[in-house]
Amino acid sequence: MEEVKVSLTGAAIASIHSHITGLGLDENGRARKIAGGLVGQEEAREAAGIIVDMIKKGKLGGRGILIAGPPGTGKTAIAIAIARELGQDTPFVALNASEIYSVEKKKSEVLMQAVRRSIGVRIREERRVYEGVVTYLKFIRRRSPLSPYPIIAGAELELETTSESKRFSAGPEIAEQLLKLNVKKGDVIIIDADEGIVRKLGRAKGWGGRIFDIGGERQIEKPKGPIEKVKEITRILSLHDIDVSIALQRAAFISLLGVLSAEREISDEVRQRTDEMVKKLLDERKAELVPGVLFIDDAHLLDLESYSFITKAMESDFAPIIILATNRGITKIRGTDIESPHGMPRDLLDRLLIIITRPYTRDEIREIIRIRADEEEVPLTDDALERLADIGVERSLRYAIQLLEPAMTIAERRGKLKVDVQDVEEASRLFSDIRKSVEALEEYKDLMLV
Ligand SMILES: Nc1ncnc2c1ncn2[C@@H]1O[C@H](COP(=O)(O)OP(=O)(O)OP(=O)(O)O)[C@@H](O)[C@H]1O
Ligand SMILES: [Mg+2]
Repeated sequence: MEEVKVSLTGAAIASIHSHITGLGLDENGRARKIAGGLVGQEEAREAAGIIVDMIKKGKLGGRGILIAGPPGTGKTAIAIAIARELGQDTPFVALNASEIYSVEKKKSEVLMQAVRRSIGVRIREERRVYEGVVTYLKFIRRRSPLSPYPIIAGAELELETTSESKRFSAGPEIAEQLLKLNVKKGDVIIIDADEGIVRKLGRAKGWGGRIFDIGGERQIEKPKGPIEKVKEITRILSLHDIDVSIALQRAAFISLLGVLSAEREISDEVRQRTDEMVKKLLDERKAELVPGVLFIDDAHLLDLESYSFITKAMESDFAPIIILATNRGITKIRGTDIESPHGMPRDLLDRLLIIITRPYTRDEIREIIRIRADEEEVPLTDDALERLADIGVERSLRYAIQLLEPAMTIAERRGKLKVDVQDVEEASRLFSDIRKSVEALEEYKDLMLV
């Protein structure tokens, strides 16, 4: 139950931003031009660095941040970087505002669960674990009749300490966490033997950093002794984890159906029990509270009811830091005729610190594409990179990034090892960006279904 659940959107967010390892700031909190996988956008990154400091000092509970800027200017990227800077010990929950309109759960329930997932409780205890440097990692993907995408079926994993090395076959739950944590060869990880929770501790000395970010991650000694051992570890459970376990304990006595619904909806009574239990643990100094971050992307998709829920959540006893992101300017608050900045009610806006992201220069766009190409292992000729930079400027950064994989496939079909201008152009001819597809629909509108 304590296991970190990986939602589909979580995984998707992680993959297009997988090149991001942090905010890329120096000791004085100044943004390095290119670092942490990030390029440019210095002011926003520096502001985000201050937020991270404030969160670490525990000064920001119950506050809200808004990241606002045009599409493709790195709002989501910066939020991911904040999560990376905070490290695994600070809960970071990412939600796309559209996810609150689910069929199974009420809006308030989705939001309440998200809020409670983003508040952690730190508890120390002895656990049986596997610990070592990852020396081999291969994901096993499988086609599923239920999904058009290959799903993660497991992973082959090798761990090493100073005294031994062992191979493991991991199931899908562990594989998904490895993917979400962006675990690479040379990372030191620890897996809870009984519950299968994976934590990344840092990079083993001697394995180097990522190509564009040397020194960005914590360098640690290679673990000593056996891989499997009993270790005192600190666990962070979220309030939601505790809610679910209490709800399950109760439901188990009722019926199997009860167990199923416990995950879906949690009663106020269960939540009160959790809060009382946690307050007691805090009083007895057996636990510490770790306010985390609730990140709500595309926040303009929220409606009035949800906004007031959030404003209220910010003021409650256990409050996370709420980060909202939007690319909307003045627009109607969803479901109303009220026009407001970013489509948000004034009383919420007044409580937010605002960070602005600005459009990129051509050079910055080129560097971002270069990093993405590196990350996706798409080798580009210099000319191809320049062509993609042009496309990034003329169309959009995201469109240019999306062309990388198809261009690679085209190049491979032609038996080439590097993507050149021709492949980029072919990819861009075959796949349109949104503007072109809308134009096409306009042109063929008499022929389209309505
Ligand atoms: N400064 C940057 N450095 C490196 N990569 C970046 C930077 N800004 C954006 N990216 C990458 O470019 C792509 C688009 O950026 P992102 O999704 O963060 O934009 P956004 O501002 O959230 O856009 P939207 O308003 O459409 O949600 C992502 O793959 C992201 O990781
Ligand atoms: Mg975004």
